Amino acid sequence: MNKRTRAGLRLVGVLAMGLAAPLALAAASASQPWMNPKFSPDKRADLLVSKMTQAEKLHMIRSYFGSPGGPKGFPMPKGALGSAGYVPAIPRLGIPALQESDAGMGVANPHGARPGDGATSLPSGLATAATWTPQIAYKGGKMIGHEAWSKGFNILLAGGIDLVRDPRNGRNFEYAGEDPLLAGEMVGSFIKGIQSQHVISTIKHYAVNDQETARTTVSAVISKKAMRESDLLAFEIAIAKGDPGSVMCSYNKVNGDWACENKYLLTDVLKDDWKYPGFVMSDWGGTHSSAKAVNAGLDQESAGEQFDDKEWFDKPLKQDLADGKVSEKRLDDMVHRILRSMFAVGLFEHPPTKQPVNRAADKRVAQHTLEAGAVLLRNEHDTLPLASSTASVAVIGAHADKGVLAGGGSSVVVPWGGNAVPGLKPTEWPGPIMYQRSAPMAAIASIVGKSKVHFAEGDDIAKAVALAKRSKVAVVFAQKWAGESFDWVNLKLDDNQDQLIEAVAKANPNTIVVLETNGPVDMPWLDQVGAVLEAWYPGSGGGPAIANILFGKVNPSGRLPVTWPRSLDQLPRKDLPGAGGHGTPDKSVDYNIEGADVGYRWFIAKDKQPLFSFGYGLSYTQFSHGTPKVAAHGHQVKVTVPVQNTGKRAGADVVQVYVKAPGADAPHLAGFDKVSLKAGASQGVTVSLHPKLLAEFDTASDDWRIAGGDYQVYVGSDAEHLGQPVNVHLAAGKLAP
Ligand code: BGC
Repeated sequence: MNKRTRAGLRLVGVLAMGLAAPLALAAASASQPWMNPKFSPDKRADLLVSKMTQAEKLHMIRSYFGSPGGPKGFPMPKGALGSAGYVPAIPRLGIPALQESDAGMGVANPHGARPGDGATSLPSGLATAATWTPQIAYKGGKMIGHEAWSKGFNILLAGGIDLVRDPRNGRNFEYAGEDPLLAGEMVGSFIKGIQSQHVISTIKHYAVNDQETARTTVSAVISKKAMRESDLLAFEIAIAKGDPGSVMCSYNKVNGDWACENKYLLTDVLKDDWKYPGFVMSDWGGTHSSAKAVNAGLDQESAGEQFDDKEWFDKPLKQDLADGKVSEKRLDDMVHRILRSMFAVGLFEHPPTKQPVNRAADKRVAQHTLEAGAVLLRNEHDTLPLASSTASVAVIGAHADKGVLAGGGSSVVVPWGGNAVPGLKPTEWPGPIMYQRSAPMAAIASIVGKSKVHFAEGDDIAKAVALAKRSKVAVVFAQKWAGESFDWVNLKLDDNQDQLIEAVAKANPNTIVVLETNGPVDMPWLDQVGAVLEAWYPGSGGGPAIANILFGKVNPSGRLPVTWPRSLDQLPRKDLPGAGGHGTPDKSVDYNIEGADVGYRWFIAKDKQPLFSFGYGLSYTQFSHGTPKVAAHGHQVKVTVPVQNTGKRAGADVVQVYVKAPGADAPHLAGFDKVSLKAGASQGVTVSLHPKLLAEFDTASDDWRIAGGDYQVYVGSDAEHLGQPVNVHLAAGKLAP
């Protein structure tokens, strides 16, 4: 059949569908009134639940592992696509299957379960957070949501937001940093982007899953007040903004109770206080009971047949229903919540449709995210930007001739064409160590010319030094892999990379270090190098993004979403027993040490100077801030700051507004905005402060209250460098809901 005939047939098909659709809808509406999109999601869910048998209800509240293999080695269930989770359709009622895929950086392909399939990877969640631009997070979410939908998925297990309490946490790259406001705003927008594509987003891991060591047994110990003002506040802000269809409860215990059967978390806070209408699914292996979990608020057991001790939501739950330990009403509520989210996000009206994706456009989304989120940490004597006419560039280390490193575990995205550097150990879970196919070397060569760029692997220091000596500029790529299920033992770069950098820096005064890491690492060589760029795990557009920043085609504007400590001694917990398999893990972790003073707030309260503070990041231009003006109407506070680009290049500044409440230990971020300004240009930037960041959580009355008194408002270039405070008086009182 030639192209034209095929196109013609497709047109006839579309026309036929167009005519048939209203008729079909009318017929469906009569016998299946829940199919009427004019009704609210809640009404549709009620109508549907009322027609379901108990068996059908029980069918909806369990998913199966959607890939071949798994811990018990079962074959892939019929109808699954090769992903993390699957709930078969119920054709009698027109309920579509749930096809669930990991996750936060792009569509994962666990163990190559979909041979030959690839996807586009955003850079780390931390890179997205470091853009401080909710619209960029939205675009990234939209891009991965569309890829998911185009591969047949209608749920992405994406929306990681556990706070960074420890730079050793192996999953920090999946999250959005240490500050509840920044994380909440960024992840909320990311979720909105995903769901704009009729794919449910799953905010996770709820809650206080802030380390991987002993993640399935450790109990996070933290007071309710501190939890509400830190980890839970991040979830609260993101959920209010993004409206995710589902929440994934985490593996760990919180104050002694498993998160997936923790009534305080799931019912008292999430469903009652926040009025969350969606459903809670367990993490894979996170369900530990039937009646207790269900009555605490868990709505769906994930892949229990493979990952849990028992299939709790199968026979045990049936028995609990028969014994009256779980009410039919609660079962209806569980199903209602799942269906409600499916209706709200458009899963019935917009079923995923397999189709090719626009790889070039999607890669650009990933690239632009990193261009706005890579953080320039050091730039002595304007080492950067490099001139496009640079005579010779030595590119050294981290397989920069082939690709860029990715974080490991369930979130890993397999690029089209496969791993750029296959075979590195561990090749099994939480490996394989994956490199995205976006080589910085090629991108640099495309700017300066191929003949001027040479590569040396970093493992042979003498060779690298020789290359650096005969080059005008040396760019050392340094890396440290992290992944799900383990934490770093320390922050050291391994494989003699510190020695490599020191040796190259001695050989070439124009040495630049590009870091591909999970976050902060030790930098004993910092004073010896000209420039340092934190590129996180750079994603599918990593190569060009890094090259564009190095050569000034893009002016760096990322700001750290995490504090960069000088050493582990500065942290609330110097030791992390059991990290990386060393030593015996503790049964609990005491987060009351810092409480809600996570990250920079701990550093300020304890008068510790980090290496780089939260909010820090250099630009190729400079900005100045004028005196802020503060206007308060009740508890709504707006701060207007004159911002000027005083340098010679266009660039973007992040206006960070910090507030210190009367009697508080430390100021904290209460609002922010990023503004792009041409050289010499100035603009007044108005930032609305988030009322919850002005208030404190009162556990006696279970609400947020403004203490009342004089609040100090600061505009800072980072959390450590705050300008002169301006006082604003706020009246004491309860926050309006
Ligand atoms: C992870 C989740 C993931 C799930 C499904 C778990 O091990 O903690 O983040 O979504 O697996 O792959």
